[in-house]
Amino acid sequence: MDPMIEAQLWHPVIAANQVRDTPVACTLLGQPLVLWREDAHGGHRVHAWADQCPHRGARLSLGRVLTGLHGARLECPYHGWQFGGAGRCEHVPAAPDFTPPASHCATRYEAREQHGLVWVRLQTPDYAGLASGPLAEPPVFAPAQDAAWRTVLCGPYQLRTSAPRLVENFLDLSHFGFVHEGWLGERGHAQVQIGVVEEGAGTDGLEVRDARAWQPRAYAGADSGAWIAYRYEVPHPFLAVLHKDAADGDPVSNAIALCIRPDGDEACTAWFVMATRGDNASDAELIAFQDAVFAQDRPVVESQSPRALPIGRTTPVAEVHGPADRVSSAYRRYLKRLGIALGTC
Ligand code: FES
Ligand SMILES: [Fe+2]
Repeated sequence: MDPMIEAQLWHPVIAANQVRDTPVACTLLGQPLVLWREDAHGGHRVHAWADQCPHRGARLSLGRVLTGLHGARLECPYHGWQFGGAGRCEHVPAAPDFTPPASHCATRYEAREQHGLVWVRLQTPDYAGLASGPLAEPPVFAPAQDAAWRTVLCGPYQLRTSAPRLVENFLDLSHFGFVHEGWLGERGHAQVQIGVVEEGAGTDGLEVRDARAWQPRAYAGADSGAWIAYRYEVPHPFLAVLHKDAADGDPVSNAIALCIRPDGDEACTAWFVMATRGDNASDAELIAFQDAVFAQDRPVVESQSPRALPIGRTTPVAEVHGPADRVSSAYRRYLKRLGIALGTC
């Protein structure tokens, strides 16, 4: 798989509040990373480097962050070499008079903090369409940046399935009455309206408008069921946003972004960035609700075979489709058009 388009995409790797005053290890697409912050207290710049010291290969994530007159440095646990934010070795304690050359440098990756997550891109794009356009930066969800909305991060959820299977589950309204019976749907009201599916061209993803499903309790505080209208956006192959706008008698607007770090073809780690307005529930209650809903999805999604999503890449698709699967079919076409191999078959 080379060149690998997945390595040229931005991926969420960890909740930003997990990176404080000590280095943290995590892995993206098989690449061990060390994440650290230049200012442990002020929420400053986060760095993502290869978790391997250029001197003798020790894991930098076992080291320390030093702060001092020279600014913040990452200290290797083995011989104490100190690396500045630009990656250059700036001090070798065993030879304090030595000025390290430019080649004494850690391997750095692009890192950004957005929506409470740290996003990393392992390779600078050479794929047509990735250097600009919707995939050139970490995705932005408008409500999550609006001060009138409250944003809550849920997760991480580690799953034994592929990122595409999980995205497809998130886009699927027709499981609500069964998997989430009494919560998001009712088996006696299982019919759904798929609405309008708009498929982009090139690296543009898809949008769904006017999708509808029956909810037994339309919102917290509602005493009856209602048809609820949803909108979806899929701006990135491993990321989908669900919008539920306030409506007559329903004061609550939600935008929930499912953000996934693929951990191979059959595993992934997911977060929900939930932006909400008009909801009186506490952060803890919102997180508990998402946890409970996700616990209903997990056994079913992890039971799906194969775990990679069949998009007709390696063999003809053996799964059959119903009329309510138009969004899933559009999503599969998007992955195929982009050439996504990770988690697909
Ligand atoms: S291995 Fe990192 S300083 Fe020697
Ligand atoms: Fe679900």
